[in-house]
Amino acid sequence: MILIITVMAFITVMSIFLNRLVRSKVKKSVEDLRKNVEEMSYENNLLKEKMELLDHENHDLKLELTKFSKMIDGFANIYSKPEFKSEIFNDVLELALSLVPEARAGSISIANGKRWEYVAIHGNGKSINDLKSADLNSEWMVMVPKVSIVENITNKNDKVPETYSKLIENAFGSHIYRSIAVPIKVGNDTIGNCFLDALDDLQFSESSKKIMEYFSTILSKLLMMNEVQSVGYININNTLRTIVNFYEMKCSNMRGHSENVAYLSTKIGEELGFSPKQLDDLYWGALFHDIGMIAIPDEIVDKPSKLTEEEFDTMKSHTMLGEKILSYHEHLKEVSIVAKYHHENFDGSGYPDGLKGGSIPLLARIVSVADTFEILRRENNHAPTLSLSEAMKNIEQNSGIQFDPEITVIAAKVFQNIPTR
Ligand SMILES: [Fe+2]
Ligand SMILES: [Fe+2]
Repeated sequence: MILIITVMAFITVMSIFLNRLVRSKVKKSVEDLRKNVEEMSYENNLLKEKMELLDHENHDLKLELTKFSKMIDGFANIYSKPEFKSEIFNDVLELALSLVPEARAGSISIANGKRWEYVAIHGNGKSINDLKSADLNSEWMVMVPKVSIVENITNKNDKVPETYSKLIENAFGSHIYRSIAVPIKVGNDTIGNCFLDALDDLQFSESSKKIMEYFSTILSKLLMMNEVQSVGYININNTLRTIVNFYEMKCSNMRGHSENVAYLSTKIGEELGFSPKQLDDLYWGALFHDIGMIAIPDEIVDKPSKLTEEEFDTMKSHTMLGEKILSYHEHLKEVSIVAKYHHENFDGSGYPDGLKGGSIPLLARIVSVADTFEILRRENNHAPTLSLSEAMKNIEQNSGIQFDPEITVIAAKVFQNIPTR
């Protein structure tokens, strides 16, 4: 009996103890859970904030890309006009104004010897023609070396005699609060400027400033192309060759790249038994494969450090831009396809369309191998020149990944036999 009572007492004490233990454990778990929930909701709020920020940034990026493509289309339209000469400036100004929503007026002026000429004006004033025909001196011009914001331009430019500053103000029809000043260059020479004016007290957004930097770069290249054409290069291929040379000379280490790629590609084409027409297309395609690089800002092309993701996206657009530049010439159709697809990879990991295997145009598959081999074999500050056997190894390792395996075999044969540099 005593034993039974003892056991019962023990069981009771144990069950009380266990009950307390469980309750305190449950209490602790509930507390932990509450803490976790609190932490989670804090994290969630942070995440929400981050997502909102990301959404905002994404929106900005989308907006920029839309503007960028609108700008390229605008330039392509202007450039494709047969009368691509001095009359383009009205179209150029209208295009610039359509990209900068804060600006309601604008002008383009060019230094022509000692004269300062307004070649395009968008304003509400009555004396636009008076300003266009005014006897302005080029020394009075405000020349900007890079895209910048200028506050209160009419008051600031004290080089202009008062009668002329009145003329300028009247042409625009109202007070100019601030302007984005965009240099107009031909190649590297600043010949004038484009002012986009805010007639209300508005600040220009970062996106407007950025798009005008691209705008300035592309315009200067187009004007240079126009200049090259107007000094007597009738043959469009020669003009384009000049552009390629110009771009390569500007880059610290690309001189002769396109000529070499054209040479190597043609050798591969010969080995594949190409017809004269195919060889011709391959040669020009390889020579112009990077022509779109003329529209990529110098600071990205020549950046010594690693490109940011955004900069790399801009760099990648040289394929589409190249295609656009070349596709305006009917006989360069095949050639434009090479410019577009020379960075596609055999396994589908390339750009711009992520094409795979045989769906990548044949000429582009050939140029892709020749392009990489040429880069691997040239002297470069960022990576040491590879020896012939190292470069060959690299090409063969990428067979089936970056390159078409069948073409890699032919290319390897060609590369083995070219004179060593
Ligand atoms: Fe390229
Ligand atoms: Fe290239």
